[in-house]
Order: sequence, then structure tokens, then C-alpha cells
Amino acid sequence: MKQRTLTNQQHIHTAIIMDGNGRWAERRGLPRNYGHRAGADAVRRVVKAAPELGIDTLTLYAFSADNWRRPEREVGSLFRLFHSYLLSETEKCVEHGIRLNVIGRRDRLTPTLLDAVMQAEDATAGGAALHLNIAIDYSARDSIMAAANLAAGGAGSREAFASAVALASNQKAVSFDVDLLIRTGGEQRLSDFMLWESAYAELYFTGTMWPDFGEADLAQALSAFHSRERRFGRIREAVAV
Ligand code: IPE
Ligand code: IPE
Ligand code: MG
Repeated sequence: MKQRTLTNQQHIHTAIIMDGNGRWAERRGLPRNYGHRAGADAVRRVVKAAPELGIDTLTLYAFSADNWRRPEREVGSLFRLFHSYLLSETEKCVEHGIRLNVIGRRDRLTPTLLDAVMQAEDATAGGAALHLNIAIDYSARDSIMAAANLAAGGAGSREAFASAVALASNQKAVSFDVDLLIRTGGEQRLSDFMLWESAYAELYFTGTMWPDFGEADLAQALSAFHSRERRFGRIREAVAV
């Protein structure tokens, strides 16, 4: 069977761990929530640039299940930001053919935010230019555990399990594997993000803080991605077959 194309791949799933908002603000003597606000502007830039760079699915890590451990004030301001992002962006997403899907747990979202999420998802459901997944209260381990429970009793195929993982994290479509995983902010770890889907992801780490990340940085990450040889376990000679 032919593998998905290698260097000239057009349908790229890029996932981003958007890290560094707090440090960006602290370095400027500003409260951390200023960094989160500047981070929301970086999201807008990257979403706009993604389709032109051949990205058809963009999955953004906005809030991990472990981020509940942060001070209540910071958590509160992050959730207010998610809400205002949904309200301000839904119409733009419809206009630009962007299908929005919030992935992660839903039972800890406030009813008002949940309403905004469902409204945004319904309104943008027809979008085909870009599938934008925003991970809020997300844990890859929780998704995999929930999928294991769903699949309990039957061995099933790898594909069936992948669907269960997608379902467990509220992904609307069975998301295909992550091709390129970017982490900003200088740390080189996964922090419980897309562990199943990133089995063969190309990893790209940059010291750029998320609020400073823009179209040129995304293009640079894509260019690094295109220079990688993805072998999927095979040897070099067989890759292009
Ligand atoms: C990422 O930036 C955003 C969230 C985790 C919500 P951080 O807030 O983790 O920023 P740093 O890592 O403290 O700089
Ligand atoms: C990961 O960043 C989560 C998001 C970017 C949303 P963290 O800043 O929470 O990760 P750790 O704690 O440094 O691993
Ligand atoms: Mg961080």
C-alpha cells in the first residue's frame, strides 16, 4: 500500500502546543493574562495563514486538563478569552470556510461557554477550507483511557480504536494522524497532547514565545517539515514507492 505522500503532501495536519504566553508577559512586566490576550491574536494570524500553507487541519492546544491547577484568576481570564474568541470569530470562520471543533472534555465547561461552543460548531459545520480544532480541557491520556473503555470487550482494529479516541475527545470527524507537531516557548515535551495521533508526527520545537509566533514562523516550520524524510518504519530506498 502506498503511504501518504511524503515531501509534496498537500493535506497536512498541524498541531500546535501554544506555549509561552505567561513568560512573554512577565518579561514585559505585565500580568500573565496580557500574554494570553496577545496569544489570541497569534491564533488569529496562524488560522488565517494555515490554508495557504497547505494545512487542512489545525489543532491548537489552548487549555490542558492539568491547567486547572493554575490560580483561579488565571483560569477565569483564560475561559473569558475562549468565550470572547468564539463570539468574535464564528462569523469570520463561516466567511472563510473554517469548520470549528472544540475538542476535550465538556462536562467542566460552564453552560454559557458550552452554548457558545455548540453554536460556533453548528454555524461553521459546512466549512471545508480548514478544520480548526481547539483543545480545551484536553488530556490525551484521558481520551485514550475513555477509548479503551469504549472498546472494552472487543479487540477491534487499530482504525476502530482511532475512531474511539476521536469520539472520546469530541472530535467531529475521525481526525487523521498529526503530520507536524509544533511547540513554541522553548520546552521540548508533549504535556499530554495528541499522544495517539502523533505516533509518526514530525516534531518541531521553537524558542519563540507563542504571542510572537506568526505567519513567517509557521512557514518556517512547514519548510522544516517538508525537508524531513518520513519513513514510517521502512528503509530509505522504499520510501518513494
Ligand atoms: C500557554 O502559555 C497557554 C496555556 C497553557 C493556557 P503558558 O501560560 O503556559 O505560558 P508560560 O509557559 O507560563 O510562559
Ligand atoms: C501545555 O502547556 C498546555 C498548553 C499549551 C495549553 P503548559 O505550559 O501547561 O505545559 P507544562 O506544564 O509546561 O508541561
Ligand atoms: Mg507553559
